[in-house]
Amino acid sequence: MIDKHPLSESGNVISRRRFLALVTHGGWLAAMGGLAYQIGRFLGGRGLETGPSPVVAAGTLDDFLPETTTYVPEARAWVHNNAGDLAALDAVCPHLGCLVRQKESGSGFHCPCHGSEFGPDGELERGPAQRPLRPLTVQTKDNAVLIRT
Ligand code: FES
Repeated sequence: MIDKHPLSESGNVISRRRFLALVTHGGWLAAMGGLAYQIGRFLGGRGLETGPSPVVAAGTLDDFLPETTTYVPEARAWVHNNAGDLAALDAVCPHLGCLVRQKESGSGFHCPCHGSEFGPDGELERGPAQRPLRPLTVQTKDNAVLIRT
């Protein structure tokens, strides 16, 4: 006759040691998966996130008045018109991905999440971000403004 554990009707008993090992290893796997995901996000793994299409129609030239900075939500970008030359910056903070806002002074950007500051050309002024805002390519076709994200 086969001995059965008194608490098991099927005879399949997991020892306490085996159960704790399974829970511990499962916890480690979950933690490592979460860590790998966060590292990928931090390093800019664009494949890990869903975002706008690579080329975004941002409007017409008339939408960007000279000497103004305009936010284009479809591209998550800030577009500055400097005497007719359009320049765009990625509005995604290089720290952890919040959207930067224009400073109250109108010159430069700040991140509401952890306080990084960027100059009007996206240069890093204050961390915790370690990199400047990413410049984006702006193209005009006829009267349309296109931003490559
Ligand atoms: S996400 Fe911008 S400073 Fe942290």
